[in-house]
Amino acid sequence: MTPQVLIVGGGMITHDQLLPSLYHMQRQGRIGEIGVCALRARDWQPLAADAGLAEAFPGQGFRPFPAGGDPDVPHPDLFREAIASLPPGSIVVVAVPDQLHNEVILASLKSGHHVCTVKPLVLTHREALAIEREAYGRGLFVGVEYHKRFDDRSLMARRKYRAGLFGEFRLGTACLLEKWYYRHSNFQNWMTTGNSDAFTYIGCHYVDLVHFITGLLPESVSVYGIRDRFPNGQEGFLWTDARVIWNNGACLNVQNALGFPDAAPGGNTQGLTMYCQGETDGALIAHSDQYRGLKYSYTSKSADPGATVYAEPSPDYFQYVDLGGQGLTPVGYGYRSVEHIVEACIRVESEGENLAERQRILREIDAAGIIATPANSSYNELVIEAARESILHGGKIVTLRPEAA
Ligand SMILES: NC(=O)c1ccc[n+]([C@@H]2O[C@H](COP(=O)([O-])OP(=O)(O)OC[C@H]3O[C@@H](n4cnc5c(N)ncnc54)[C@H](O)[C@@H]3O)[C@@H](O)[C@H]2O)c1
Repeated sequence: MTPQVLIVGGGMITHDQLLPSLYHMQRQGRIGEIGVCALRARDWQPLAADAGLAEAFPGQGFRPFPAGGDPDVPHPDLFREAIASLPPGSIVVVAVPDQLHNEVILASLKSGHHVCTVKPLVLTHREALAIEREAYGRGLFVGVEYHKRFDDRSLMARRKYRAGLFGEFRLGTACLLEKWYYRHSNFQNWMTTGNSDAFTYIGCHYVDLVHFITGLLPESVSVYGIRDRFPNGQEGFLWTDARVIWNNGACLNVQNALGFPDAAPGGNTQGLTMYCQGETDGALIAHSDQYRGLKYSYTSKSADPGATVYAEPSPDYFQYVDLGGQGLTPVGYGYRSVEHIVEACIRVESEGENLAERQRILREIDAAGIIATPANSSYNELVIEAARESILHGGKIVTLRPEAA
């Protein structure tokens, strides 16, 4: 039996990565019906009408929630009905704003479904622990979609670091600045100072990656944020500078913003540099995650937001390629990440009623440390919690405080 999949949230990440990845798996016969539940019908309608998705996946579609009525009326609790209507053992993909992840994940687990959630899992460590307990007790898988882990360069660095080839991480610097136009998107309705900030939204990728590569754990955080206004007048920390201290004393600086120039090439700017210490010399890991060697100058600018005539597209995150046959094939670590998590859900579910075996597989995946799970990555929630406290108090240093499990 192929599992049904429900995506809760029909925004940017659903359009750019989640829905096309799932359509591809559906086309391959690995998953069944796909549903999309958004806050309003107006939110999912662009997905149904999207020419790019139609070209890549001719004849495929999703079951929408809400399905009728005034497209502008919000249905904030409809996801509960949509989740409850799935057969147990289905997969819920969580793609709502950060502060809503917890309730959607818990509703999914309580209905007996596996979960693939976009990062961050949740905003507090306590919630992460509760999700871990709930999922393990029921033999359900929860995967956190930190897709940079499935970028081959991250896997290369991890393997070589853990083989000792880079010595010990000492100082690092990472950045991910989204383009200015993001301020005009739905972000202005939720990425406000009370909910989130540029570091919480996107900086967590590089904190996660430094752990993924090195196995080190973060110990304290300070985040300086600049309060700025979205076009709708709401206030957000749209520029942030974070300093994360690790349990070997190493220091990672992370800069994030919704402020990279719209005229600049690439969808954003991002990268990671780690200076390390060997026995008799320094060592270095430097990844340009935005400029990946491609320089394209088109005859004209596409209508997509942030599009430029001169572009430096990444072939590695998510692209459609024509491999022959009908439609287009999604490739890249964005696709591979979703595929790995969905496959893990299917693997656990294939054990049927055997709870002990399901739990054994869950522990095996936790221990492998390749897919982020609540059990192996809740240091991210500790960082976020500390970061929120820090940013709201002018960048004070906050020591991570794990809740007792
Ligand atoms: N690089 C990344 O990993 C990455 C990139 C972008 C977004 N994200 C994450 O994805 C999540 C969503 O981001 P986005 O960019 O798609 O945001 P978005 O603002 O474009 O879309 C949010 C969606 O959530 C839906 N929604 C809101 N409340 C809802 C509710 N009560 N029930 C059902 N649907 C509801 C809205 O209808 C909308 O479709 C966030 O957690 C964000 O951090 C991750």
